Amino acid sequence: MNKKIVVAICGASGSIYGIRLLKALLNTPVNVYLIISRAGKMVLKHETGYSGGSFESFLKDEGIVFHEKAIFEILGENDLFAPPASGSFRYDGMVIAPCSMKTLAAIVSGIADNLINRAADVCLKEKRPLILLPRETPLSAIHLKNMYEAALSGAVIMPPSPSFYSKPKTIDDLVDTIVARVLDHLKIEQSLMKQWGV
Ligand SMILES: Cc1cc2nc3c(=O)[nH]c(=O)nc-3n(C[C@H](O)[C@H](O)[C@H](O)COP(=O)(O)O)c2cc1C
Repeated sequence: MNKKIVVAICGASGSIYGIRLLKALLNTPVNVYLIISRAGKMVLKHETGYSGGSFESFLKDEGIVFHEKAIFEILGENDLFAPPASGSFRYDGMVIAPCSMKTLAAIVSGIADNLINRAADVCLKEKRPLILLPRETPLSAIHLKNMYEAALSGAVIMPPSPSFYSKPKTIDDLVDTIVARVLDHLKIEQSLMKQWGV
């Protein structure tokens, strides 16, 4: 049975983290449910070659190869009737990459007013993995407090601060140091990064 993973892309800088994560996930037999916020789309257009047309075509242009058993669905940010809005839909986890400070604040406050916030809320109440890649710099006391509270509620706070010990040569390599850790947390086999010492 394919794992079912919800991926959200918010309007923080670093949409490449979401794209590289999709590339890694969709190359395996998984079901991916993608939600992009309105701000996320704007930042994607600004930071990548996405022009606002078919997102699936854009991913293919980015060199994403879909595994024959991968299932990919794009859900509307305001579609509160979509499956991940309910705990009865048994998905295996959610990643918000990148996660804006606004969405982080909404999650911590339990404001489930769109599908991203609601699916995250469902993960926390159902004790499913919720991995946040919160991106801002510098961080205010509000941001730090919200990250701390999200961690206390069960979220994994994985700031997109890449590592350098694998000697990455390109931006993609650098981003993949984080994507590898996300996949490790989702318990999905990955060959992007070797285990240290193995
Ligand atoms: C180019 C650009 C970059 C941004 N970068 C960040 C960022 O790194 N972190 C952040 O929290 N917000 C950032 N923002 C602001 C968010 O897009 C804004 O707070 C938005 O309301 C977030 O909405 P969302 O969480 O629904 O995607 C950025 C906005 C723009 C236009």
